[in-house]
Amino acid sequence: PINDLAVTPAMGWDNWNAFGCSVNENLLLSTAEKIAALGLRDVGYQYIVLDDCWSLGRDKEGKLQYDPAKFPNGMKYVADQLHSLGFRFGMYSDAGTYTCGHYAGSLGHETQDAETFASWDVDYLKYDNCFNEGLSGTAKITSERYRTMSDALNATGRSILYSMCNWGEDYPWKWAQTIANSWRMSGDIYDSFDRPDPRCPCTGDEGYECAFPGFHCSAMNILNKAAAFIHTSAPGAWNDLDMLEVGNGGMDDEEYKAHFSMWAALKSPLLMGNDVRVMDAKSLSILNNPAVLAVSQDPVGSPAIRRWRYYVNDTDAYGQGEIQMWSGRLSGGDQLVVLLNAGNSTRSMNATLADIFYDFGPEGTAPEVKQGWDIHDLWANRMDYATAQSVLDGNATSNVTRFYYNSTKTSYKDG
Ligand code: DGJ
Repeated sequence: PINDLAVTPAMGWDNWNAFGCSVNENLLLSTAEKIAALGLRDVGYQYIVLDDCWSLGRDKEGKLQYDPAKFPNGMKYVADQLHSLGFRFGMYSDAGTYTCGHYAGSLGHETQDAETFASWDVDYLKYDNCFNEGLSGTAKITSERYRTMSDALNATGRSILYSMCNWGEDYPWKWAQTIANSWRMSGDIYDSFDRPDPRCPCTGDEGYECAFPGFHCSAMNILNKAAAFIHTSAPGAWNDLDMLEVGNGGMDDEEYKAHFSMWAALKSPLLMGNDVRVMDAKSLSILNNPAVLAVSQDPVGSPAIRRWRYYVNDTDAYGQGEIQMWSGRLSGGDQLVVLLNAGNSTRSMNATLADIFYDFGPEGTAPEVKQGWDIHDLWANRMDYATAQSVLDGNATSNVTRFYYNSTKTSYKDG
């Protein structure tokens, strides 16, 4: 790892999915207050990330300027306020001449911009990939462009989490572990479980065919792409499956549970992407599920691996459905098993211990299949909607969100 940050995947909130370019000081601070009030800060959502469209170009000395109409008290003030509320402050720039929203980019200004961010007490930098002057196409070219900012951040002496956002171009999972704390591996998420944006669909499991703002992938597009290389994630260096869509309305409750579960199981950063100030009880009861968050933040930091994928005919007009089984190691000798119904009709699924433990043994040895497990269903006892509603209404005691989880236990033998 490049630093001692992101030992577990980063958790927080980013404004982009719900607000796009409509950013300002009040949005960030009122969101942070709400996240704290709902108990979400205390279950781990720590980073408040300001995305694109905050700037107003450079001054005579070349220093980046924030837009005073959007940030009347400046960025240092935002950082101070967030810090006093117990959060960390994330900002955004771009490894090109412009950001995707056509504001000033940092290419060629890395040292100066890193110093500016450090002087504003920034704790996190998301670094985008638009207008990169054609400096891509090979791992060497792209990695050098991203390494320049990595080194510049490091040279400031401030601890700044570095989130690389190059959409999987030039296969960052093969080389970004020595450059960044996380790297985006696909085009932008689109708020749909299995249908890519019809205006510019991901083809197959890939995701960066179209230029901004069109390259949009469904949650399942991104998941299926990640399956091939998710094992390259490790503490301090994670594949980023993009920000969450939970609460934005494009999926139903079961689909959002699946989206959230998979992002946690694969150890993606978990950045909420909804308007938390108006979220509903269902969304809160997903985002604050402490058992699923414990999987995301497990100290072993081992992403779940897909053990099998099985296509099934689906009743849905969109076409084929599928079922998948993923498993992974957790601390204390525990084992994660995910039964994913990626289709639209009811399925019954079986997973044998041999499947679950497949290829877990040291290389060249048969996997050790341990018998006699207790099963904990991580969703069966999530916060019910009535309780979640009372938290949203401000009528619940704050520890309700933290200690609600209380698992069922079932005896289990391999079958
Ligand atoms: C493209 C990125 O992938 C998005 O997450 C977002 O940061 C936009 N750019 C902002 O313009």
